[in-house]
Amino acid sequence: MQTGDASDVVIVGAGLAGLFTALKLAPHPVTLISPQRLGDGASSAWAQGGIAAAVAEGDTPEAHAADTVRAGGGLVNTAMAESLAREAAARIQDLLALGVPLDRDGTGALAVSREAAHSADRIVHVKGDQAGQAVMQALVAAVRRTPSIRVIEAHVAEDLIKNGRRVTGVRVRSAEGSGGYVIPARAVVLASGGVGGLYATTTNPVLSRGDGLAIAARAGAIIGDAEFVQFHPTGIEVARDPAPLATEALRGEGAILVNGRSERFMPSIHPDAELAPRDVVARAVHREVVNGRGAYLDCRAAIGGRMAEDFPAVYGACKDAGLDPAHELVPVAPAAHYHMGGVWTDSMGRTSVDQLWACGEVACTGVHGANRLASNSLLEAVVMGARIARDIARFAPGWRSSPPPKVDSSPVSARVEPSAEAIAELRETMSRHVGMERSRDGLVAALHDLDSLDVGPEGALSNAIAAARLITVSALLRTESRGSHYRSDYPEPDDAWRRHSLLTLRQAEAI
Ligand code: SIN
Repeated sequence: MQTGDASDVVIVGAGLAGLFTALKLAPHPVTLISPQRLGDGASSAWAQGGIAAAVAEGDTPEAHAADTVRAGGGLVNTAMAESLAREAAARIQDLLALGVPLDRDGTGALAVSREAAHSADRIVHVKGDQAGQAVMQALVAAVRRTPSIRVIEAHVAEDLIKNGRRVTGVRVRSAEGSGGYVIPARAVVLASGGVGGLYATTTNPVLSRGDGLAIAARAGAIIGDAEFVQFHPTGIEVARDPAPLATEALRGEGAILVNGRSERFMPSIHPDAELAPRDVVARAVHREVVNGRGAYLDCRAAIGGRMAEDFPAVYGACKDAGLDPAHELVPVAPAAHYHMGGVWTDSMGRTSVDQLWACGEVACTGVHGANRLASNSLLEAVVMGARIARDIARFAPGWRSSPPPKVDSSPVSARVEPSAEAIAELRETMSRHVGMERSRDGLVAALHDLDSLDVGPEGALSNAIAAARLITVSALLRTESRGSHYRSDYPEPDDAWRRHSLLTLRQAEAI
């Protein structure tokens, strides 16, 4: 058994939320746990569209906040949306200072593009569709040159250690089979990403299986809005796992959606057609797919020969699959993309467990409501990362006089991977019963399936099953349709349900 050095702050996860929080805390000492080599395997790096920020002339934070609220299915925390939009410009300046090469227009101003449900062009981007990768590259380099950040690579957090109500450390395991240890901490920030890997079709790294959500829930944290899983309408349907993404910015440039009969189906469904809120477009695409007509993104007229230059990531993914999006239709289907729900936090990122903060996709601040506005996720990660760093810095002076936390020092063996069959079964269950369309019978069947899944040696699948259970139970309890949560047995919104779902793991396990 090895016990990690005492560290004031441990950050679990090394996507944008984790890296930015660590950088904002500098020079305060931080230990950052990265499940792979720093910069690898984080879904932030796959973000194509960019970061929403009202930086263009004529745009305002008020308009950005109003769009966020309008897209969110009546469930957005308005004060959070307003402050998120207000703080966006300052965080964009931070990213520029960290060396993120955001695209500029001919006048030298930040170039902005349009995405669905935004009333203005407001998505700042890098080389068209490479924002996530460029942001991550710049931040990884910044973390590497910041001496106060100790990076532990190829380790995953398995549990939070508590003393009474307080979190006092993190039990980590090697992802490469060399055992594990406990890292004592006075503050833990969970920034471990989302849950897309619980679904058979996802745009996320397949290891995004809700580990952070589960370990927080096991430590007693309240989980908010777990039923709200966003499906991106245009996962590229080319039998790849994960599914490559066709960014919404393509539709912002005029690409249209058609079915296999060449019928454009969005104009009859929503006045904003292809630029309707994401949940609306995803359901329309889903309907075409399940009705056997198929769905395709047609970029030929609107973008055509500009594809390779303006959307290199999408172009490359299509070419790898033998498709030329400049001249051919791109087959698409909805893919699990983002979790609006998560570990419930206040406006400073504090969870319901003492000394535990949550940031980025693993958290639920209520700002996305039932349907996140495109490109608000990277923005939320940096806005909340900065706030959490400020909040923790307020506590830090008091720590000097107190002894470091004591931790349980039981031995930790190497991480055991769950079986591929069990994971496939779990993903099938979630997609079939807890995906785009849900019903009481399906959700109950999903709970039975989850109960009968083999958790594997040392409970290797238990985090994924716990996360899946929280989503499924929340979906069962919400007897209405709202935003990304569609119940075929309750197809309309119900005002009585215009509230956040709050659930503990104990409650979810009692159902
Ligand atoms: C996209 O580029 O379509 C995804 C952006 C997002 O999920 O916010």
